Amino acid sequence: MLKYGGSFVPFVPVRAEGSFVYDADGRRVLDFTSGQMSAILGHCHPEVVATVRDAAGRLDHLFSSMLSEPVVDLAEALAALVPALPRVMLLSTGGEANEAAIKIAKLVTGGWEIVGFAQSWHGMTGGAASATYKAGRRGYGPAAVGSFAIPAPNAFRPRFAGVSWQEELDDAFALVDRQSTGNLAAFIAEPVLSSGGIIELPQGYLQALQRKCAERGMLLILDEAQTGLGRTGTMFACERDGVVPDILVLSKTLGAGLPLSAVMTSEAISDVCDERGFLFYTTHVNDPLPAAVGLKVLEIVQRDRLAARAAAVGARLKTGLRALQAEFAWIGDVRGRGLLLGLEFVDEAGGRGRSAAELSDAVTDRALDLGLSANIVRAGASGGVMRIAPPLTVRDEEIDLGLELLGDAMRTVAGA
Ligand SMILES: Cc1ncc(COP(=O)(O)O)c(C=O)c1O
Repeated sequence: MLKYGGSFVPFVPVRAEGSFVYDADGRRVLDFTSGQMSAILGHCHPEVVATVRDAAGRLDHLFSSMLSEPVVDLAEALAALVPALPRVMLLSTGGEANEAAIKIAKLVTGGWEIVGFAQSWHGMTGGAASATYKAGRRGYGPAAVGSFAIPAPNAFRPRFAGVSWQEELDDAFALVDRQSTGNLAAFIAEPVLSSGGIIELPQGYLQALQRKCAERGMLLILDEAQTGLGRTGTMFACERDGVVPDILVLSKTLGAGLPLSAVMTSEAISDVCDERGFLFYTTHVNDPLPAAVGLKVLEIVQRDRLAARAAAVGARLKTGLRALQAEFAWIGDVRGRGLLLGLEFVDEAGGRGRSAAELSDAVTDRALDLGLSANIVRAGASGGVMRIAPPLTVRDEEIDLGLELLGDAMRTVAGA
């Protein structure tokens, strides 16, 4: 196999169900990353399986200029959730949808400069990768001309002591203004920077960012790949802030593990796209099979009140993680919202002095041995942030089991 992101996990699943994946020997592993932060309904949800079976046997894939009922129904269901952004296109991946959003911003504003956070992840394709600063910038030639980054505010590791996020934002935009050639098109942001280490934008930040964009004629693109569909305790993370972006991008969680993404925007922006002949013609645009899945996912998330469930069960999980923090001095911070939580390791004090990276790797390896899959991201100055994002359907007893396994892994590492 060609490696595309470090080494592979030493566990080979043959089957998955609910919050667990199983290998050929029947060994089960609790999935605290929802696959790749996507399987919000757990694995192989019976209603999703039935929807896939039906769609695959009835209406699978079409000529890209044909619209079908599942596609229009999903667009309408999404528009009902965000009435200010009623124009929808459906694609497959997050990178692809961000690509489309960036192109829309360029076409509509006439600019081409794109600003993002220095800890961001928006995808691996050209435009999305140019706005991704967390990883992958070296070795591939030039990024898009006019790519700028500003630091995301980090309450646990502030860049400058005593400087407020508003001052930091003002300063960052003063630098953007200096560098800009007058062609700013958009700011693209994750409301919670996940790959960047579960960095939550503080209350008020998104509103302030939106003002900065408006002052410069830039569009605000919110990438809710991971935060959308209830994960943070509201249907979309930006709801907490009372912010509606110019373009809302959904992916990962919308298909709950199947490849489906959406770009949502306003009538006004879509009208300008029409006038200027916006082109984003792909093989799988508005395909009916994934749309049918997205519609079912949305129905289940709303019917089963999974956003409220994420808030409640997330609180249970956070309380348990805080108890572990009280037990181990090398857990520096517990943060995040709903069921998108982060646990930041810090260097071990005293004689042993293991680094945060060593500790986080050892805990993750041990947890997997014990039957828990979690994921570490290295972010900026930090040695390791464990991202914890179980399916929104996770049961209380599975949360407790995960905490127990994590605690056992930590105790083994502490005593090693
Ligand atoms: C916030 C965010 N946006 C976009 C992407 C890219 O999505 P995809 O890998 O489906 O292209 C990711 C992937 O991790 C992500 O976390």
